[in-house]
Amino acid sequence: MKRRVRKAVFPVAGLGTRFLPATKASPKEMLPIVDKPLIQYAVEEAVAAGVDTLVFIIGRTKNAIADHFDKAYELEVELETRGKTDLLNVVRNIVPKGVECVYVRQAEALGLGHAVLCARPVVGNEPFMVILADDLIEDDATEGGAMSQMVRYFNKYQCSILGVERVPQAETNKYGIVHPLPFATRLSNVDGIVEKPKPENAPSNLAVVGRYILTSRIFDLLEHIPRGAGNEIQLTDGIAALINEEQVLAYEFSGRRHDCGSKLGYLIATVEYGLRHPELGERFRAYLQSCGCQFSGSAPGTSE
Ligand code: G1P
Repeated sequence: MKRRVRKAVFPVAGLGTRFLPATKASPKEMLPIVDKPLIQYAVEEAVAAGVDTLVFIIGRTKNAIADHFDKAYELEVELETRGKTDLLNVVRNIVPKGVECVYVRQAEALGLGHAVLCARPVVGNEPFMVILADDLIEDDATEGGAMSQMVRYFNKYQCSILGVERVPQAETNKYGIVHPLPFATRLSNVDGIVEKPKPENAPSNLAVVGRYILTSRIFDLLEHIPRGAGNEIQLTDGIAALINEEQVLAYEFSGRRHDCGSKLGYLIATVEYGLRHPELGERFRAYLQSCGCQFSGSAPGTSE
């Protein structure tokens, strides 16, 4: 019987030190791009790809994310009383009907592999997706979100799939880097994977960028792997063990990625999403032009 990906895991327990003090009391995944927090873009990408269960691995700053996806009863009454129907709909539809949220506490920040392992009691024996919300990926106009694209390949090949992107060789030390063997257009068999290799040791420049579909075998492997880079339990090391047992594919998705874990990437994403915002785009563009910015084409969502 064909397996389906029904659950999405969102590790959101990181310390977010690069954005302190903004992340002192709130997770970095709650930072907004224009008017939506990063985690909501990630949830929308997962829901569009067909999942019905969202598993948040939360940490120290545990309340903000649960509050964001919870029903805000008083706020809804207030908006209803004031007749603000549009905003009421926005607030009510943050989690679509039929989609369930589950929160799992990661008591200690022992790394991404450990965070994923914390999802085991909820995920069980099913294949699942992992999304790192600070990698914000724009939907492709024809192919849809990165996760929708990956789910289509999962449905076809029924194996683990890593979302990858080519990065400058000098930046391999920021990512999990795969050793690819050509398989099909934009798809490779993963023959090796290393966490944050120095450019001179990197097996390629194909970097894993925060999108994974994994089989549940990964849990058994994560239980036993020793601590790796940064003295953390690395998801990459679990995947390195998985490729000895099962096929793992790397997929070069379509859609521009923004590294919102860095301040510069976050600012760039803010500008890009601001430019295409249905209410603000045009005025924002005019403002940037008045500052001397030049644009080669008009941004989607603006009426130019
Ligand atoms: C994590 C993973 C790394 C991956 C990256 C994508 O690293 O460990 O393999 O390439 O996310 O953003 P982090 O950025 O959390 O250090």
